[in-house]
Amino acid sequence: MTKVLVLYYSSYCHVKALAQAVAEGARSVDGCQVDVARVPETVPANIRRSAGFVDDDTPTVDPAALADYDGIIFGTPTRFGLMAAQMKQFFDTLGGLWAENALVGKVGAVFASTGSQHGGHEATLLSSHIPLMHFGMVVAGMPYTFSGQTEKDSIIGGAPYGAGTIAGGDGSLKPTETDLAGARFQGAHVARLAKALTTAEILAEAA
Ligand SMILES: Cc1cc2nc3c(=O)[nH]c(=O)nc-3n(C[C@H](O)[C@H](O)[C@H](O)COP(=O)(O)O)c2cc1C
Repeated sequence: MTKVLVLYYSSYCHVKALAQAVAEGARSVDGCQVDVARVPETVPANIRRSAGFVDDDTPTVDPAALADYDGIIFGTPTRFGLMAAQMKQFFDTLGGLWAENALVGKVGAVFASTGSQHGGHEATLLSSHIPLMHFGMVVAGMPYTFSGQTEKDSIIGGAPYGAGTIAGGDGSLKPTETDLAGARFQGAHVARLAKALTTAEILAEAA
């Protein structure tokens, strides 16, 4: 079994909706077991309430458990052009895994939701790849074989760097069918890559 984890943070459910589509795509690949989890909330309850954050009963994950996965797909909203602090905070708990090289050679990928089309969508995807490379992960994007990313008739997210959606400045937009198709594509893409790497003879020889 190839194990894939979809790990996200979401305040208003846009990233959560993408995460479910990413997981659906990964599950479409034979021989893959897929789990979905969120990183812990760090914002105090009074601010969550006043900002209208939506409660999320998706389980959180023990950082040590990441070592058990062959592919990990991270989802985050854009915050001031970068990943959300909740995701960065989680990354900052992974020092032990980093020190043990426990994530080296695993497939890593990122998807994102951004308020406006040019508010840091690609910057969030690309800059979120940096810690993945520090972990030694093999970074996967969303290749142009997902042709939906060149659609020009609606406001869509996503880029060669990863799947995505545009939430709108007031959060009123929902992921489009193209966004969700991109997320499913990315999930399947990562699952296939993880499966290929975990079954590669060359890796078995090196183990
Ligand atoms: C503190 C904060 C900072 C944000 N910064 C940006 C930003 O730099 N650019 C942008 O387009 N949207 C920004 N947004 C909007 C979020 O990206 C948007 O709420 C998010 O994509 C929705 O995803 P979610 O429903 O999964 O939380 C920001 C939102 C908050 C709360």
